[in-house]
Amino acid sequence: MSIWIPELTGRTGPKYLQIVEALAEDIISGVLPPGARLPPHRELAYALDVSPNTTSRAYAEGTARALIRGEVGRGTFVRAPGRVEPAGGTTDMRRAAEGPIDVSRNLPCPGVAAAALAETLVALGHDDRLAALTDYQSEADTAAQADAAIAWLQRSGVTADRDEAVVTNGAQHGIFCALMAATRPGDLLLTEALTYAPVKAMADRLALKLKPVPLDDAGLIPDALDEICQGCAAKALYLTPTLQTPTTATMKPDRRMQIAEIAARHDLVLIEDDVFGLLIPDRPQPIAAHAPERAVYITSTSKCLAPGLRVGFVRAHAPLARAIRNAVGLTCWMPAPLTVEIAARWILDGTADRLTEVQRRHAANRQTLAAVVLAGHDVHANPHGLHLWLKLPPDWPADAFRAEAATRGVQIVEGAAFAVEPGMRPDAVRLCLSHEPDENRLTQGLETLGTILTESPSASSLVL
Ligand SMILES: Cc1ncc(COP(=O)(O)O)c(C=O)c1O
Repeated sequence: MSIWIPELTGRTGPKYLQIVEALAEDIISGVLPPGARLPPHRELAYALDVSPNTTSRAYAEGTARALIRGEVGRGTFVRAPGRVEPAGGTTDMRRAAEGPIDVSRNLPCPGVAAAALAETLVALGHDDRLAALTDYQSEADTAAQADAAIAWLQRSGVTADRDEAVVTNGAQHGIFCALMAATRPGDLLLTEALTYAPVKAMADRLALKLKPVPLDDAGLIPDALDEICQGCAAKALYLTPTLQTPTTATMKPDRRMQIAEIAARHDLVLIEDDVFGLLIPDRPQPIAAHAPERAVYITSTSKCLAPGLRVGFVRAHAPLARAIRNAVGLTCWMPAPLTVEIAARWILDGTADRLTEVQRRHAANRQTLAAVVLAGHDVHANPHGLHLWLKLPPDWPADAFRAEAATRGVQIVEGAAFAVEPGMRPDAVRLCLSHEPDENRLTQGLETLGTILTESPSASSLVL
């Protein structure tokens, strides 16, 4: 049989991802059946007129997506049927009970809110306002939702008036609406050098320029922010000061105050994503509390109650809040009244606090488990966080480590996925501890990673 040569005509984006895209398509269509042998990466590089680095990266990515597997001394083969992910990543967040162990998704413990939801749905079934919840919302409804938002924001140490609170479809929607409201195409958005990856895509869609601000173990570095702001007219800074994504750093109060002061001096809008904040019982005050006139504070019910509610809360000073409300109107008219009603009831009757406590206990248990299994490795974690940041030994490049983990059935995300600077490849990976409902599977996955850390990469796993 002639060698497999992927058809790249008409594809865009990085070459190695084009190859992975073609690989996935050819597996789905049956051109490449399970067990088919792929050409050695140098041979493929020659055939495609690309560098061997490109084909090596493509094979590593294909391995990470469980499309193919390398066998030492034999070559690279198409895996037996399983989940085939599109080249742009998957949105499938299922918590599978079998198959690869997933520590790549930063989700809270599943099912915690199910019993409360069952009760609330029954209560809603007898509520006079049920019909109203299936309709477009009146101003009175919106005001009642704002009161729940204000109560939830208060739990985070952020005070808001009704005209300062905005309800969104989750924090991600809140971030996007905040960017829509606070920026114009061509503006410069600053972010932590490693950041919540969807923000990069949002900036791209809104035609914003992105510039990374260096981080250290305590979070974004204020002096670096100041220096960057002196050199260019940045419009806004997006950051996660508590349980930073992905490094887990939680900024101390003095650093928060410094950032508020620098933002004031350079007239920066601060977009503070505090989606994990409430998981920490004694967390520092948000930066927004030090800069209420220039901060957009964003939180949601996703990590403390249930991500499926899709309810987010945003606080900004009134003129900016109005612009954010307009962006909500433009993107979805209004958040789904039913789920906002459920969240509002839970916030006002104490259910939300109870569920948050369950999530906190779960997160703390998972962190303890990870600390035991990964003892002796370079783990950066907060005892209340949902994820951890594992720094790798020098002989393990992160892409090779991720590929090796995928080959052994553990899905992780490498640090480069969060990098704003395309060439930045931190020697670290993010591990999310609550995606897997089954603690035994999580333990097994972490043990596998621990084992890989004690080995040296084989020639076949190294991505040259
Ligand atoms: C840092 C960060 N911000 C925002 C979000 C999105 O939150 P939501 O589900 O409320 O949209 C996530 C979800 O993982 C996140 O990790």
